[in-house]
Amino acid sequence: MNSDISPTQFVNQILSQAQPPTRPAKIGQTGKGRAPVNIALSKYWGKRAVALNLPTNSSLSISLPGLGTETTIEITEGSSDHVTLNNQILEISHPFAQRLSQYLNYFRNPNQAFKVTTFNTVPTGAGLASSASGYAALVLALDDCFQWQLPKQQLSLLARLGSGSASRSLYPGFAVWHKGVQEDGLDSFAEPLPQTWPELCIGLIKVDIAEKKVGSTQGMQNTVETCELYSAWPKKAEQDLAIIQQSIEDKNFTRLGETAENNALSMHATMIATWPPILYWQPGSVQAMQQVWQLREDGLSVYFTMDAGPNLKLLFLEKEEAKIIQTFGNIQIIKPFKQD
Ligand code: DP6
Repeated sequence: MNSDISPTQFVNQILSQAQPPTRPAKIGQTGKGRAPVNIALSKYWGKRAVALNLPTNSSLSISLPGLGTETTIEITEGSSDHVTLNNQILEISHPFAQRLSQYLNYFRNPNQAFKVTTFNTVPTGAGLASSASGYAALVLALDDCFQWQLPKQQLSLLARLGSGSASRSLYPGFAVWHKGVQEDGLDSFAEPLPQTWPELCIGLIKVDIAEKKVGSTQGMQNTVETCELYSAWPKKAEQDLAIIQQSIEDKNFTRLGETAENNALSMHATMIATWPPILYWQPGSVQAMQQVWQLREDGLSVYFTMDAGPNLKLLFLEKEEAKIIQTFGNIQIIKPFKQD
């Protein structure tokens, strides 16, 4: 399905709700934004409308404080944007710069360009996707620059258009991105969940941090188009989300861990059953999975989730921290509700 509403119409609809007085966009105006990366416990995989980035299913995530993106934008004269990523000036033909510029087309006035300076505060080698924090930070920078003063829900809609998972990076802690049912896409935004879980830990296991061959946008499209197993995914994803949300409310860690791990493996099963096949795992990924399963057999409550890449994200409670460090020497541990 594709919507009759264009991305430009979608953006204009949201911006029509910006608080007056909206400042005229003048050359030299600047804005700043900062957003965390997030890890989905119940995944987004597949779009029902590609142009508006509308997902097939809802998803639930946790943001990782301290890891994310900081972005500054400035309105400049001319027709070509300047993009600097982690202190490196990018050619405008660079895929990162191209995607950014295309997105900025929805917001620029005639004869205006943007100077975008962006830093990923994800330590090099963390193997974490940065499009989520990247587009969330960019939308916050745009809001600051143009003084829209839009509520988070509206900013989440705009971030979603840049990258689906970015809709969830507007918030700390747990967030749910509602898939929405409307054709105009205005009900497909993320909202924060009120619960916290101070003992909850996320462990990042870096298997390989090289750029993947098939990005998530392409990967999920190929899955939707060619994977016969995919028809089972949307229903399963919604069920898993409901169980995970309930487990968070009940502080039932085992149920959360089992559901999140099974959800990630089910998503990967649809990728593997795609043609041509998409296998993000490497030998090191499988080895780490087996270590997690062994630890569970030994009585430790630890689970993993994985995204469109070979790295694992472990889920465990603080009381298991010492044993986890003992098994996985180079693990990076984040306590989402104990750090800022
Ligand atoms: C596996 O948000 O990167 O990480 O909307 O095309 O930019 P686009 O895709 P993206 O996909 C993320 C996929 C995932 C699961 C998730 O984060 O929910």
